[in-house]
Order: sequence, then structure tokens, then C-alpha cells
Amino acid sequence: MTTHSATAIAHPNIAFIKYWGNSNDRLRLPVNSSISMNLDGLFAETSVEWLDHLSSDEFTLNGESQTGESLQRVAYHLEILRNRLGRQSKAKVVSANNFPTGAGIASSAAAFAALTAAGVAAAGETLSERELSTIARLGSGSAARSIPSGFVEWYAADTHEDSYAQSLFAPDYWDLVDIVAVINKGHKAVGSTAGHSSAQTSPLQAARVAEADERVARVRAAISERNFSDFAEVVELDSNLMHSVMMTSNPPLFYWEPASLRIMKLVREWRAEGLRVCYTLDAGPNVHCICVRSDAETVRSRLNKLSEVLTTLSANVGGGAQVLQQ
Ligand code: DP6
Repeated sequence: MTTHSATAIAHPNIAFIKYWGNSNDRLRLPVNSSISMNLDGLFAETSVEWLDHLSSDEFTLNGESQTGESLQRVAYHLEILRNRLGRQSKAKVVSANNFPTGAGIASSAAAFAALTAAGVAAAGETLSERELSTIARLGSGSAARSIPSGFVEWYAADTHEDSYAQSLFAPDYWDLVDIVAVINKGHKAVGSTAGHSSAQTSPLQAARVAEADERVARVRAAISERNFSDFAEVVELDSNLMHSVMMTSNPPLFYWEPASLRIMKLVREWRAEGLRVCYTLDAGPNVHCICVRSDAETVRSRLNKLSEVLTTLSANVGGGAQVLQQ
């Protein structure tokens, strides 16, 4: 019996320019490029053991043995890894997140980035960062962006090989902090995967996509110049556009709660006062408040005073996926 194992960690990420809708759902080829930052301090830690004697893949998440859809999605990804690595053996996967589920932080990005990095390392292989990113993308689109470090761009492309993410700037390039205002810890009604496939039913999706490259270029430039006011304007616009598409899809997807909108308006008021803070929301009601570090404490204490805010989490810019043990 031969065994091979490895452990890897990967951070979740928050998108400044969003991924919403695929040109190919199976390959998760996005209709537009996106930009994000990794979230330091929050991570998924995943161990993969390729075991010759196993008759089927096994997956434990946060101490609980998984069955059904959760296991199937991991087994599907392990099959992709087996095909690429030329292996037959099944795997035992043990994963844990150090951040709470339902906190408005997508766990699939960190999960599939860590699973990819650990699965490849456990087979004793080394693949390029670019290829790891393409493989992670097949598990969850946004996972492509959790492979490289810091501020990351993921390229829309027509082929599997060309749709990968790459680091634009190292984590210490700009001291941004993501403060998540958690207003609802419940599970989202409609997950991202179903949302991506209904995006094209919105008459607004074509308009959102048409100018996405321009917004990507504006955010890239704003980060490069550390220009917060330009950055804030485009990040909020892009989030509003994605949510407009969601709300006008068939069936419509309403992720905002009244408290989300209240916080969005307050954030704009605070910015008008001079605080460098802007908002962005993913497929859920919690509000990610992106701010510069010198304003982060003020923003956090203001958010914590709001009756609708259950708790806040904060994260600096994080590094890329890393293999810990082999
Ligand atoms: C709203 O990567 O979670 O967070 O590929 O189906 O796993 P799947 O979707 P996922 O979608 C993320 C959507 C988003 C925007 C973003 O992160 O860019």
C-alpha cells in the first residue's frame, strides 16, 4: 500500500470587479475578467491523502463527514486532479475553515484553491501557478483568484488554459482592509452556481459585461496609483451592476436586506465626510466595507454600533495558496 499526503492553506477573496455569469458553465469560463484581493487571517486548511485501498473518495469538513452534494462536488474535483495527474487512487480529504460559514465570505474559493494545491502536492507533482489557478477554477470560479498572492486579476478567455488568475500587486502594495458587516448568518437561498447560469436571463447582463473590461482597467489603475476615490467609485458601481443583474434575472435574486442598503448609504456618507471606505456585496446580504488601514478602526467601531450588525470580521490583504506539509 502506498500513501501520499499533503496539506495546503488558501485564503478566501473579495472581488472588486465581480465574476457573474459564464460563457461555459461546465468549464467555469467567466463572461468577464475580475479583480480581487485575498483575505489574510481567514483560510481553509485542507489535507489530501491519495490512498490505493480506498474504494471511494471521502471528505470531512469542519469535523463532519460529508455526503450528498458537498461530497460530490469534491469528488468531481478529485476526478479532474486524477485525470491531470495520471492517478487512479481515491482520496481522503479533511478540510476546515477558520472563518464561520454564513459570515458573507464565500468558502468555495478558499476550499477549491486549497484542495487543488494539496491534491497536486500529495501526488508529488509541482505545477505552475497558472495551471493550478485554471484547475482551481474548475471547482469554483472564484477559487482561481485564491491561488496567486495579494491583488489578483482573473482573465476571461475562450479556453481552459487561458482563463487563469495572476497576481497584479503583492499584499503589502496597498494597506487595504476588508471589514465585513455581518447582518445575517443564515445560508443563502440561491447559491452562486445557480446564479451564474441564470445571469443571462437579465436584460441588464449584456450592459454589465459590455463595460466590464473598462472597469477592470480602472480598478487596476486605481490600485496601482493607490487612488482611493477612483477605486471606491468603480468598486461600488460594479457591485451595484451585479446586483441589478441579479434582481432582474429570471427568477429574480434579491440578496440585499434592508440593513444592507442602510449600511451602503452610511458608507457613502462616511466617505463624503472624508473616511476612505467603500462597499461591495457578494451573493449575500453582508456588506464588505473596503477601507484604508488608517480609517479601519473608525469604520469598524461605527459598524459595531449599528443595531443591525451582528458582528464584524476584518482582514488585511492576504498571500496566495501555500503547501504546508508534504
Ligand atoms: C458574487 O466562484 O462562488 O462572489 O463558480 O459557481 O463556485 P462558482 O461561483 P463562485 O461565484 C462568486 C460570485 C461572487 C462574485 C465574485 O467573487 O467575483
